[in-house]
Amino acid sequence: MLTLEHISFDVQDESGEKGIIKDLSLTLDDNKFIVITGPNGGGKSTLARLIAGVAKPTAGKIYFDGKDITEASITERANLGISFAFQQPVRFKGVQVLDLLRLAAGKKNLSVAEACSYLSEVGLCAKDYINREVNASLSGGELKRIEIATVLARGTKLSIFDEPEAGIDLWSFQNLIQVFEKMRSAIHDSSILIISHQERILDIADEIVVIADGAIREQGPKEKILPGLLGTASAVDVCRSFEGGN
Ligand SMILES: Nc1ncnc2c1ncn2[C@@H]1O[C@H](COP(=O)(O)OP(=O)(O)OP(=O)(O)O)[C@@H](O)[C@H]1O
Ligand SMILES: [Mg+2]
Repeated sequence: MLTLEHISFDVQDESGEKGIIKDLSLTLDDNKFIVITGPNGGGKSTLARLIAGVAKPTAGKIYFDGKDITEASITERANLGISFAFQQPVRFKGVQVLDLLRLAAGKKNLSVAEACSYLSEVGLCAKDYINREVNASLSGGELKRIEIATVLARGTKLSIFDEPEAGIDLWSFQNLIQVFEKMRSAIHDSSILIISHQERILDIADEIVVIADGAIREQGPKEKILPGLLGTASAVDVCRSFEGGN
C-alpha cells in the first residue's frame, strides 16, 4: 500500500516560488488498477516522479507498505518494488535492449526467448529489436514500448506508467490495452498506477483519481467517476472546469 501524506512540491521560477503539488494526500491500496487523469500541467507526472523518487517533496511524507520512503533514493525504492515508466523515456547509449530487459528483470541469465516475450507483448517484433542499442536511432514509439516492456519484466509490487499511450500508434495501442487488461486480471499482491487521458485505459481502472492544479479533484471507483468524465467532450474538458478552484 502506498500512502502520500500532505505532499507539496514547490519550485522556484522567475516569479518566485510556485506550488506544483499542493498538500496532496492519497492512499493507493494493493491489488488495484488505479488511473490518474486530469488536465495538462495539473501535476500528474510530478506526482509520479515524487512516488518513484526522481524528485523529493518539499513537504509531506510518503509511505510504502508502512515504511517511510520520503528520503529513499530511486534505487532503494526500486528494490522495495516500485517501478516507473517515464512519459518521455531515457535513452542509454551502449546498452542493448536485451541488457536493459535483463537489468530490469534482475536476472543476468534471462533467456533471449523470455526477453522476446516481453517485447512481443508490447507489439515489437522481438528479433528486430533485441540487439538494438537503446539510443537515438529508436523512434519515440519504439522507445516507449521498450520502456513498458522493462516494467513488465520487473514485475514489481507497484508499477507506474506515465501516459503509456503517448506516441504509440493506433494498432499498437490496441495491443497495449490488452497488455493492461492482462495485468489487471493478474494483479496479485501488487498494484498498477497509470497516468492516462485515454478512455479505454480509464475503463480498465478499479479506481480513478482526477488531479488538477496540484490537488485531487475527484477520487473513487470507476463506476462513480468515469460517467462524469465521459459526460463531456473529453476527460480533459471536465478537468478544465475544475480549474479556478471550483
Ligand atoms: N522543475 C520544475 N520547474 C518549474 N515548473 C515545473 C517543474 N516541474 C513541473 N513544473 C510545472 O508543473 C506543472 C505540472 O507539470 P506535470 O508535468 O506534473 O503535469 P502533468 O499533469 O503531467 O501534465 P501533462 O498531462 O501535460 O503530462 C506544469 O505547469 C509544469 O510546467
Ligand atoms: Mg505528464
